[in-house]
Amino acid sequence: MSDYFKHESAYVDEGAAIGAGTKIWHFCHIMGGSTIGARCTLGQNVTVEAGAVIGSNVKVQNNVSIYNGLIIDDDAFLGPSCVFTNVTNPRAQVNRRGLYEKTWLKCGCTIGANATIVCGVTIGRYAFIGAGAVVVKDVPDYALVMGNPARQHGWMSRHGHRLQQQDRNGLFMCPESGFRYQEKAGTMRCLDLEENQALPTALAIGKKTYDEFKG
Ligand SMILES: CC(C)(COP(=O)(O)OP(=O)(O)OC[C@H]1O[C@@H](n2cnc3c(N)ncnc32)[C@H](O)[C@@H]1OP(=O)(O)O)[C@@H](O)C(=O)NCCC(=O)NCCS
Repeated sequence: MSDYFKHESAYVDEGAAIGAGTKIWHFCHIMGGSTIGARCTLGQNVTVEAGAVIGSNVKVQNNVSIYNGLIIDDDAFLGPSCVFTNVTNPRAQVNRRGLYEKTWLKCGCTIGANATIVCGVTIGRYAFIGAGAVVVKDVPDYALVMGNPARQHGWMSRHGHRLQQQDRNGLFMCPESGFRYQEKAGTMRCLDLEENQALPTALAIGKKTYDEFKG
């Protein structure tokens, strides 16, 4: 067994693979055949089904069910009570076990509280899903989507700030990190830190709220 923490009220079934430093809080159920990376936090009442794959440093808030078919990359944030599905056309009378549809949450994305992600979609790196959104199609890297059905309302930086104003070279700047971003043909990229590079330690602790940066 690796070195993880489990609250006494949580069930971890035999055959679940859980990385070091992960914390599993009250009333969670982790099923055998699921995979959870290192340094994750699973809040109260989180279920992880057999076949689900969760990377490292993933933060899952209360009341989230992670089903077979869901792949969650490192550093994703899943807000409280967000919902995933794994069958597009479920019927109680038809057994579709083994026909689960894949949903992929890429590195660093955020799923807002109470959002619903319909199966089969890919949520891009550092994409941001607003609270209560219903996502029915793929979301590009760094895109901010909200509403039902979710539509793109701009871009969000790696630190979770809207990228709105362009300088005279057409670049956006994140007010928290100072990183510059460039949009080309509908694709947003950070010019100062590759998407797969870790954040420098000094930039990994927030010091001001969202509204303070918004001004
Ligand atoms: C998406 C979000 C980041 C937008 O924040 P923002 O940039 O400050 O947005 P504003 O409050 O300035 O609103 C801008 C517009 O978007 C709308 N809007 C904001 N959040 C929305 C949401 N989640 N769904 C639908 N519309 C939303 C506002 O009504 C407003 O519309 P208007 O221009 O027609 O008046 C924020 O509302 C949100 O949903 N954050 C997620 C919080 C969360 O789930 N945290 C998890 C637990 S910690």
